[in-house]
Amino acid sequence: MSQRFTTDVLIIGGGAAGLTAALTLSQHARVTVLCKGDITSGSSHWAQGGVAAVTDPEDSFESHVADTLDAGAGLCDPEVVRATVAAGPDAIAQLAQWGVNFDTEGNALHLTREGGHSFRRVVHVADATGKAITKTLTDQVLDNGSIELFNDRVAIDLINLSTLGRHHSRCAGAYVLNRSSGRVEVFQSRFVILATGGASKVYLYTSNPDSSTGDGIAMAWRAGCRVANMEFNQFHPTCLYHPHAGSFLISEAVRGEGGVLRLPNGQRFMQRFDERRELAPRDIVARAIDHEMKRIGADCVYLDISHLSAAFIHGHFPNIAQKCSELGIDITKDPIPVVPAAHYTCGGVVVDEHGRTDVPNLYAIGEVSCTGLHGANRLASNSLLECLVYGHRAAQKIISSLDKRQNDPYIPKWDESKVTDSDESVIIAHNWDELRRFMWDYVGIVRTDKRLMRAHRRIELLKQ
Ligand code: FAD
Ligand code: SIN
Repeated sequence: MSQRFTTDVLIIGGGAAGLTAALTLSQHARVTVLCKGDITSGSSHWAQGGVAAVTDPEDSFESHVADTLDAGAGLCDPEVVRATVAAGPDAIAQLAQWGVNFDTEGNALHLTREGGHSFRRVVHVADATGKAITKTLTDQVLDNGSIELFNDRVAIDLINLSTLGRHHSRCAGAYVLNRSSGRVEVFQSRFVILATGGASKVYLYTSNPDSSTGDGIAMAWRAGCRVANMEFNQFHPTCLYHPHAGSFLISEAVRGEGGVLRLPNGQRFMQRFDERRELAPRDIVARAIDHEMKRIGADCVYLDISHLSAAFIHGHFPNIAQKCSELGIDITKDPIPVVPAAHYTCGGVVVDEHGRTDVPNLYAIGEVSCTGLHGANRLASNSLLECLVYGHRAAQKIISSLDKRQNDPYIPKWDESKVTDSDESVIIAHNWDELRRFMWDYVGIVRTDKRLMRAHRRIELLKQ
């Protein structure tokens, strides 16, 4: 017998966006948060550099807005950019109030720098900002009597009343696979927030954890939402290149603090691509590395920070230094081998300024959404900012509508009458591997019509 749960707001995803919304809602509603795995399953836990926000009196909203628009290559929505940037300082203050201990310098926050930013404006906790944020927010959620957190639950489809034969379109919950029991459960709710993160796992090489498979984007699309800008996959220029590294990022803050990129022969090359050199926006740096690796047939390039003192390096990048050291690389002496990898899904489910999608009572926040903030290319550390700002805004909008919406009396259980055993696992694994390989080879950093057509034909075959 499969189980059935009822709540006011169902949040699918327990990263920075989902947890922010949950905590904001919790004084007004019963909230249920679902995660595919545990706290480490989303990208938020792995975030390194920090959160971009104007906190230095010398800095300005205008400058943060201009940098965001410039990185976005003319495709950001300027109104959205202005409003999100303006909400940055409050978002940081809220995180501090919830208990995140950001690095400080004297009485002020310590600010690091990343590519595309004209100022030091990235608030951080050493080089493991995401871990500090998700741990603090998860602790708050676990202490909160109004929020229930379920790990190991995979949402597989949204419940739209119109597809159940009711007249009007409205999201009323989700069907969710319980990974322990293998059964599909009904989570019925008055509102649903998608906070499922991005889709970078569709590429063979990615900085992302396994959960980034675009589930929320697919579910929203099937439920009738518009999806936009999916062609804008962001590639991070510097992921660690080592057979045993898994998908480990070397933060852009390393370049922000003076790290330089070198070819295998030791020569620097970024000056040939952009006057900002290593601190150009990351699409420019990733393309430059891709170009140089192809030109000279190299497997990787090198990121060198060894000219800085060991004390500085260990103070600012303890996590990166430790990971590299485990693999035999002493970053105080050796250059770090790096390659670009898929990092961020700039597109997603189209939402308005409150995170509302096209389907009534369905919201989308964080990386799953397309708010208009990022345009063609996200500015470094603007993602966590967007998670916090939209997590808060979506929650506020729902709070203001709670009185108007009651739970529907009955949602049918998952119809498994047409469910059959899947192919052998080896076939699914093979298809998955094939998809990720041709996405990397044909839909990568630099694209041609010919390669895109080839990828399209292969996708059609896989779909068949
Ligand atoms: P996530 O944090 O990805 O969380 C998604 C959640 O949804 C997870 O809990 C997952 O289990 C759950 N989920 C997914 N599918 C389902 C499903 N079907 N059913 C149930 N649950 C599901 N951005 C910055 O701004 N600053 C940084 O310094 C920074 N560093 C980064 C470093 C790394 C290595 C990576 C990978 C990303 C980094 N980013 C950074 C990007 C940023 O971390 C992400 O864009 C952001 O954390 C996304 O947050 P989110 O809440 O939208 O989703
Ligand atoms: C990083 O630390 O380089 C990641 C920052 C980001 O993705 O915004």
